[in-house]
Amino acid sequence: MSDDRVHVASVEDFEDGSRVVVDVEGREIAVFRTDDGFYALSNYCVHQGGPACEGAITGTLDVEDGDLVYDREGEIVSCPWHGWEFDVTTGEHLADPAYRLPTYEVVRDDGELYVR
Ligand code: FES
Repeated sequence: MSDDRVHVASVEDFEDGSRVVVDVEGREIAVFRTDDGFYALSNYCVHQGGPACEGAITGTLDVEDGDLVYDREGEIVSCPWHGWEFDVTTGEHLADPAYRLPTYEVVRDDGELYVR
């Protein structure tokens, strides 16, 4: 495999939670485990530079057949500074997708996780 990837965590690092924040060459990157797999986002909030990925991990409300339903548990993270909510799977701000956290591709190889 190409060497343009950087090791960020082991799958076993997620046994006690669904998020690991690591320093990769001076940049903080958060790796999330969801039901669908692993996602990596920049930990610098596009609002005012807070630690965007270190807040509460929740789901969100969606409209289904005219009813509000709570869905997507574990796929939304709230920046602890002012509460902006981001989609862990895309980096997009929930209210305005024009704002988004940079994302990284996560590669899983033999129990280890890499970003590139
Ligand atoms: S710095 Fe993240 S919401 Fe303001």
